[in-house]
Amino acid sequence: MEVEFIEGLPLEETMIFEGEHSIQLSKDQKQELKNAGAIFLYLRDAETKELVSETYYIKVDDMEKLSRDLQAEGSEEWKGKNAVYCYSNTTLTRYQRQGFGGMLKDYFLKQAKDKGYDFVIGHARRNGSIKLNLSSGAIIIREYPNWDGSETYDFYYRNL
Ligand SMILES: CC(C)(COP(=O)(O)OP(=O)(O)OC[C@H]1O[C@@H](n2cnc3c(N)ncnc32)[C@H](O)[C@@H]1OP(=O)(O)O)[C@@H](O)C(=O)NCCC(=O)NCCS
Repeated sequence: MEVEFIEGLPLEETMIFEGEHSIQLSKDQKQELKNAGAIFLYLRDAETKELVSETYYIKVDDMEKLSRDLQAEGSEEWKGKNAVYCYSNTTLTRYQRQGFGGMLKDYFLKQAKDKGYDFVIGHARRNGSIKLNLSSGAIIIREYPNWDGSETYDFYYRNL
């Protein structure tokens, strides 16, 4: 499949990704992130335009504009350090384990570096998500048991 990377789709088109998550964001929450400066990136089939994978991130210093439920615990330690917080990596089930999440991760990391950021931080689920981050150079800081009410997530950082 030939793929293309895009930024800034209408949020209603992106809600299909929320079904893949243990923590699901509403359209209003995604809009709140967007209003605070978050960047939403997508990988899609270049021919059919069908969406495959999503990731979004925000400058840590902009997170104080967000309501409490969107302020990720631990991120406050990275204020003033020129870091971005990666909220989500999601590949639709039928496309998982085919390398698309990794391709979008690489695209995101290059974009964040090109924008001049020094670090990426985030909380990753102990599935393909932490694997994806560790294989792109992330280092685990600590674990958060019951991050989403049931699962342990690892809090990580990565130099850009
Ligand atoms: C995590 C996720 C984004 C990975 O996307 P993907 O497109 O399948 O990723 P890739 O195919 O590029 O695989 C990345 C790595 O993770 C591994 N992997 C993928 N899914 C996995 C799983 N369920 N369990 C263990 N490892 C997995 C792959 O083998 C690959 O490892 P490798 O680089 O050593 O070969 C995808 O599984 C997903 O959307 N999951 C549901 C939503 C979710 O939990 N998101 C994370 C929230 S923090």
